[in-house]
Amino acid sequence: MNTFINNLPKAELHLHIEGSFEPALMFKIAQRNNIKIPYASVEEIEAAYKFDCLQDFLDIYYQGASVLIKEEDFYDLTYAYLTKCAEENIRHTEIMFDPQTHTERGVSFETVITGISKAVEDAKEKLNVSALLIMSYLRHLSEEEAFKTLEQSLPFKDKIKAVGLDSSEKGNPPEKFINVYKASIEAGYIPVAHAGEEGDSSYIWGAIDGLKIQRIDHGNNALQDSKLVSEIINRDIALTVCPLSNTALKVVDDLKNHPLKKMMDLGLSVTINSDDPAYFGGYLNKNYSDIQKALDLTKKDLIGLAWNSFRYSLLNSKEKEQYLKELFDYYQKHMKS
Ligand code: ADE
Ligand code: ZN
Repeated sequence: MNTFINNLPKAELHLHIEGSFEPALMFKIAQRNNIKIPYASVEEIEAAYKFDCLQDFLDIYYQGASVLIKEEDFYDLTYAYLTKCAEENIRHTEIMFDPQTHTERGVSFETVITGISKAVEDAKEKLNVSALLIMSYLRHLSEEEAFKTLEQSLPFKDKIKAVGLDSSEKGNPPEKFINVYKASIEAGYIPVAHAGEEGDSSYIWGAIDGLKIQRIDHGNNALQDSKLVSEIINRDIALTVCPLSNTALKVVDDLKNHPLKKMMDLGLSVTINSDDPAYFGGYLNKNYSDIQKALDLTKKDLIGLAWNSFRYSLLNSKEKEQYLKELFDYYQKHMKS
């Protein structure tokens, strides 16, 4: 089964580039930039990765990101993740980045976007992995701050496909960002948002009605409300589910109790993703294989999940067709024989 998963052509739709920052690379970049971090070794960084909730994780995640200063730092971080994609047969990925985590520290928007997008261009050519970028607003900051980020992004609009909303969910409902989402859509960005990870189902209603999102990041708490489930299905909105993130942040107590299968049985369109793989114990293939084992998913289920990953990507229909054909060929080779 693991070989089947490793070779399965798939897309990743929920990945924070700052969350792919491996301790070894963090240590190297901190030394290169002469920045002190409160850890003496890679092992000490790894030992600090224990969380009881989203906020515990976010505190460490923002601290880790603070060693990223120069364009080459953003390039190295992004290229390392894209190399991992090539190894895992992730054919396409949609990468979230948090500009405010860096601009708040005096790093320019241009430095961040240039480093990341150069890595994306090189990966297409050298690794044959495609990637799109999702600029995520930090929801613990004000809507006014988000507007500043939108403004800063406009000269680089051709490099960014979508806007997202992440960070501390509870107490920062989607309604706080209605105006900046409206302006982002008018600027040509596709709207997605984290919703229903720790927040209850009202946060998902707010995101689909108020922010007009086309994809829900996480969405676990949709299951609290059957009317919401029907609405998500009727509007054909997919959920980007992140199994190992959910257990690491105690959104789910055990993978065996993960709601993924229930979501599939209800008719929701779900995808599997890694969220912040350097912090949560595994990249995309480990998410597939651990949830497969925990919920006893079949090869057919896994093909369906990979199918959704391309189907609900933000690629154009021609690009989607090419990847879906690749997946169909894989299906024919491995399921029909
Ligand atoms: N930023 C990075 N990972 C996140 C998550 N799982 N939820 C909210 N914000 C995040
Ligand atoms: Zn996330």
